[in-house]
Amino acid sequence: MCLNENPLNPYPELKEEFQQILTEVPFNRYFNEVTQKLQELLSNYIEIGGDCIAMGNGADEMLYYLFTSLNAPESYILSLAPSYFDYKSYSSAVGMSCRFLHLDQNYNFKADEFLQLLQPVNCKLGIICNPNNPTGNLFAAEKIIYIIENTDKLILVDEAYFEFAGETLLDYVHKYPNLIILRTFSKSFASAGLRFGYLVSNPENITEIKKVITAFNLSLVTQAFALVILRNKEIFLQNIVTLIKEREYIYSRLSQIDEIEPIKSYTNFITFTAGNKTKKLFKYLQTNGIALRAVWQHPVLEDHVRVTVSRKKDNKLFLQKVKEFIQT
Ligand SMILES: Cc1ncc(COP(=O)(O)O)c(C=O)c1O
Repeated sequence: MCLNENPLNPYPELKEEFQQILTEVPFNRYFNEVTQKLQELLSNYIEIGGDCIAMGNGADEMLYYLFTSLNAPESYILSLAPSYFDYKSYSSAVGMSCRFLHLDQNYNFKADEFLQLLQPVNCKLGIICNPNNPTGNLFAAEKIIYIIENTDKLILVDEAYFEFAGETLLDYVHKYPNLIILRTFSKSFASAGLRFGYLVSNPENITEIKKVITAFNLSLVTQAFALVILRNKEIFLQNIVTLIKEREYIYSRLSQIDEIEPIKSYTNFITFTAGNKTKKLFKYLQTNGIALRAVWQHPVLEDHVRVTVSRKKDNKLFLQKVKEFIQT
């Protein structure tokens, strides 16, 4: 329960369709019409033209490409903190640095402070992860739009958990030339191991980003599988409804325990604290076969851990063990 994976795995149900498509795609070729079909279905799903989309091997790879396209001597990106850890890893991998605006005790931030940190000429990109990982909260769309409207710097909104939140800024891509959206199939479409993610922005930005993407970067196997997933998207979207119910169940049960404080989540995980007992609880769960993610490195999340919403029986066991620990 520690990597924010989707536990509901509909792959066995789709086995025949996966097998079928593997017989249809000629893997001796670099290029096949499956690419066009995938682009069409993705365009339909997110309701935006194919020239606004760049696809790759997971959101992480798209971050890497985006940073590569923006890299310049002494340049940096701006992120909130705590937020997705790998903004720092991939920006430093391409030679950029990463600066942070730290969240307040309500896991929020002031738009004007973000705008101020964006100002220096060496700042190439501001990132807002929404909903935010690892806090799980959702920033107000108005706040992000205010930032986008008051800067000419590029703003990346990482919507890795969009389907669990239901809120998106994707509709604003045509309105704001400095807006880029990041999405992944890893969470909502239960495909962490498939590696499929995409960026959405206006065609000019997409053209710039594509200049650093290698030719045929996305294997035909991944494309074929992503196509089957989109053809069957209702199964996956229904599973999200189930996971959201489970998330609310865990949240309400954790809230009822006096010594536990969960943060309201719009994702497939819940971050919570058991005060100064958190680290012992973490170990107790570990010895009982339940792995959580320690997210207590940032002062705002001192004594916090993150649990991924899982299958009903695992969630029940997790809650039972938490209660057991608190009562002893
Ligand atoms: C906020 C956020 N962005 C991006 C990613 C990377 O997703 P992918 O598996 O598509 O590389 C993750 C994965 O946990 C994430 O939490």
